[in-house]
Amino acid sequence: MDEKIKLSYEDKVYDFPLVRGTENELGIDIKTLRSKTGLITLDPGYKNTGSCVSNITYLDGENGVLRYRGYDIDDLANNSSFIEVSYLLVFGEMPSEDKLTKFENDIRKESLVHEDITSILKSFPHGAHPMGVLASLTSALISFNPGSVDVNSDDKMYHAIVQLIAKFSVISAWVHRKAKGLPLNYSDNSLPYIENLAQMMFKNPNEEYSSNSVVTSALNKLLILHADHEQNCSTSTVRIVGSSEAGLFASISAGISALWGRLHGGANQAVIEMLELIKRDGGDTSRFMEKAKDKNHPFRLMGFGHRVYKNFDPRAKIIKKTADEVLKDLGIVDPILNIAKNLEQEALNDKYFVDRKLYPNVDFYSGIIYRALEIPTEMFTVMFALGRLPGWIAQWREMKLNSEPIGRPRQIYSGSKYRNTERA
Ligand code: ACO
Repeated sequence: MDEKIKLSYEDKVYDFPLVRGTENELGIDIKTLRSKTGLITLDPGYKNTGSCVSNITYLDGENGVLRYRGYDIDDLANNSSFIEVSYLLVFGEMPSEDKLTKFENDIRKESLVHEDITSILKSFPHGAHPMGVLASLTSALISFNPGSVDVNSDDKMYHAIVQLIAKFSVISAWVHRKAKGLPLNYSDNSLPYIENLAQMMFKNPNEEYSSNSVVTSALNKLLILHADHEQNCSTSTVRIVGSSEAGLFASISAGISALWGRLHGGANQAVIEMLELIKRDGGDTSRFMEKAKDKNHPFRLMGFGHRVYKNFDPRAKIIKKTADEVLKDLGIVDPILNIAKNLEQEALNDKYFVDRKLYPNVDFYSGIIYRALEIPTEMFTVMFALGRLPGWIAQWREMKLNSEPIGRPRQIYSGSKYRNTERA
């Protein structure tokens, strides 16, 4: 049965269809609103606006549910590999064993990055922010892999996807090596994706390297937990840039820039900086809690709150447990982990945070793991981008396959009325 909603305006009543999702979420289809009524909607920050119908990720922020293609996030984080989840997100189904092996091998075959990319990397000044470098190198990859991606050709699309997944892990590892002032490591195609990533990031030229299974399992989980999150700021950016017919690599590069901000992916860096500040200040969390609640103070509790989750972020729970496991295995006692746990407890019992339903988000504990792996703070958001890549690709592909129109919002103009340059 077609469901409709009525809007009355200036003595007329208009019908608009309701759109119902598979989990019963409801939206009003206002595609004809302006042509029928002359009105537009105004929704800064898009808090009430659905930009698309998507079958990739389901998020129920009230109940703390996150699913990729129907699979619960903790099921995937505990039982799948990042490459398997990437396949699932992009192509919609779990790969068979044969398809997964082929996908992994095809990614390996694409793991050489044009050597001239290293000259571009080296030309960045020491201290350049890794997210700026990553966005630039991703854009630069276009010059070495020209040609637009034809989404209607399964072969060409598949080839572009394996190219991007393969080369993105190499350049992300290189950005890390550059930030640490270390020589670049190349891909070792004898290794699975995560072990290969670990050796590209952590192997030193003067010693043998063997990866630690607790660390690789944590990296695998972190990448899976970050792999998609429906229409967030960076994903919407990827879709809107792609809607202008900009290519896949260019759209992803724009997504990286959107992710960089500290209210989005950059929060993982901001969390560690905040925890370090509290530690330097003597570790008294209550003073910072007061500042976070003071509307006249710009300080916010970083890693807390979420546009959609009004309950525990299910990813934060898994990451907190993983942080405990990694620190225990590496024998690290990090005082900022205790500061984080104290802060969490205080916030969960504080009326201000309870009333506003502010819970720890994905970024609250992830930085503690990265810090234990000696990944520089400024690199944290690059790790987020590496995980988010398959989600961005899946969303870009879906937008193209659905032939969505170019994204172009409207506005209510509030500037001067007509005037001209003639003086009175
Ligand atoms: N610390 C203190 N107060 C907060 C916080 C916080 N971290 N987050 C929200 N609030 C308060 C706001 O001041 C506001 O209070 P008010 O109703 O009295 O004015 C209320 O809670 C609602 O907050 P909004 O900013 O309106 O919520 P919005 O959905 O726009 O913002 C956001 C969500 C940006 C994530 C916000 O919670 C925030 O800034 N958090 C800290 C940064 C962070 O951790 N970002 C990562 C998010 S996860 C991700 O992107 C991967």
